[in-house]
Amino acid sequence: MNEKLLNNTACAMVAPGKGILAADESTGTIEKRFKSINIDNTEPNRQAYRDMLFTTAGAEAFISGAILFEETLFQSALDGTPFSKLLASKGVIPGIKVDKGAKPLAGAPGETVTEGLDGLRERLVKYREAGARFAKWRAVITIGNGIPSAYCIETNAHALARYAALCQEADVVPIVEPEVLMDADNTIEICEKVTSDTLQAVFDQLYLQRVLLEGMILKPNMVISGKKCPTQADVSTVAAATLRTLKHHVPSSVPGIAFLSGGQSDEVATAHLNAMNEMGGGPWALSFSYGRALQAPSLKAWGGKVDNVADAQRAFHHRAKMNSLASLGQYND
Ligand code: 13P
Repeated sequence: MNEKLLNNTACAMVAPGKGILAADESTGTIEKRFKSINIDNTEPNRQAYRDMLFTTAGAEAFISGAILFEETLFQSALDGTPFSKLLASKGVIPGIKVDKGAKPLAGAPGETVTEGLDGLRERLVKYREAGARFAKWRAVITIGNGIPSAYCIETNAHALARYAALCQEADVVPIVEPEVLMDADNTIEICEKVTSDTLQAVFDQLYLQRVLLEGMILKPNMVISGKKCPTQADVSTVAAATLRTLKHHVPSSVPGIAFLSGGQSDEVATAHLNAMNEMGGGPWALSFSYGRALQAPSLKAWGGKVDNVADAQRAFHHRAKMNSLASLGQYND
């Protein structure tokens, strides 16, 4: 493990004014996104869509890295340049989603465990050769009647740490993503408690499994009201609760925290990030690793048509710029 290299890469991923584009939707997830614009989920469409995002002129001023699905890492842009080379030539670090998805957890109805550890050591070598310098693994924690269980949290935390240790062995920076879902009807207080329990379990496991905290990025959910909760906490309440929770559980040696958007609307996700940075942030860089909140307006503007590429790129550039400003606490709108 090259500690200096890992730390340099992690710091570059959260350099001032920059965040990460999550464009690593699996073939199943991108199908859902394409359905919303009536586009078939074919390889040429996936290639054209990612080409539109990655060739957006000037976005590299705001985007430090892009998380890719395996297909995209080994795919080429429309001009024939491998996507990983195209991104690297713009100074955007290529990354790779390495988990195999959240699968039902045995003996725990309604809960999942993320799979993908078998063969991961060998896959990481292949991914690094193809240009990936960081990776992502997403664990999913669901809030519901009597859940999450401690069993589910522990099992996912253990797998996250096993993944992170394997990444670092291969000189690949792990993005550690324990996502507490925001889809239920729970209050923000419940989200805070579950996020606290989850982060504590994750950092306990990272410590036990000897993960170099200086060589990783945390990708958490924000502490937020469940989507179906009748009372929705406002922006400053979300920002304060999220900061408080992170400060309780995330060591200051972690270089950066890059949030997922998790179904928040694009502008709300930007406002929340901005509010946290306006409040002074924390000992780590506080930035974004958004999927939907960076791509949604662009996907809509694109609609699968070559003629719309310029409009779609304008929409992506705008959201990237707004989130860059939010990562500096300078977004006002
Ligand atoms: P969202 O920002 O759309 O939640 O996606 C981020 C991500 O990479 C989830 O794993």
